[in-house]
Amino acid sequence: MPSISVCLSPRLTNLQDFTNKIAVVVDILRATTTISAALESGAASVRPVETLEECNYWQSKGYLGAAERGGQKVDGFDYGNSPFDYLNKNISGKKIALTTTNGTKTIYAIKNADQIFMGAFVNISALTRVLLDKKKDIIIVCAGWNDEVNLEDTMFAGALIDHLMHSFNISDDPAILAHNLFDLGKGDMFHFLEKSSHVSRLLKLGLKKDIDFCLELDIFDQVSVLKNDEIMSYPHQVDV
Ligand code: MLT
Repeated sequence: MPSISVCLSPRLTNLQDFTNKIAVVVDILRATTTISAALESGAASVRPVETLEECNYWQSKGYLGAAERGGQKVDGFDYGNSPFDYLNKNISGKKIALTTTNGTKTIYAIKNADQIFMGAFVNISALTRVLLDKKKDIIIVCAGWNDEVNLEDTMFAGALIDHLMHSFNISDDPAILAHNLFDLGKGDMFHFLEKSSHVSRLLKLGLKKDIDFCLELDIFDQVSVLKNDEIMSYPHQVDV
């Protein structure tokens, strides 16, 4: 039986060996949810980049530029990191370059994984189907906040384990911790997460609707995978 483990912070990825494994990057609030919203709305791809300069560069090459820092859209870019920025048809067929505080950085912290998928509550069952089909060892990598462990990504890791545990061995303590955390909070995820640092930050910015959206289950059937430095819908646009 394949195994499933959890890396609670990008800072811990150097302790992991991703060879022959599938990585699932999770930044529930909001990067991986927003990427799913963009692809579900017909964007051709989302290119994760680490710096504002890189995002600027791709914007000059005709990409839509999307940048967030500290939960807010950065001036001079077309979009920020709210899923609502992407739930429109203006982005259909477009390529987007996206940089965020933690989510896009986390993708670059992963070395040598067979494949890198994006994890989000909005398409957790669709992702589960793909992972069950692949029958490969999985490492869930939580983006956290500035390398600190956070509640919402850990809870998602627990939820994905809950979806997969009948066909996967839970192989480390962070995975057990994540699953127990999900068990504790699954009844009312918003109230369980209400005191968390990033929920507090987004509430202060008046973004309750973004939080509610990011905690919705299975509103999308699309699954996001990294291919040649661009995140695309799996398997439609990806002959993996
Ligand atoms: C991140 O990457 O840190 C988050 O997605 C930030 C945000 O809420 O936009």
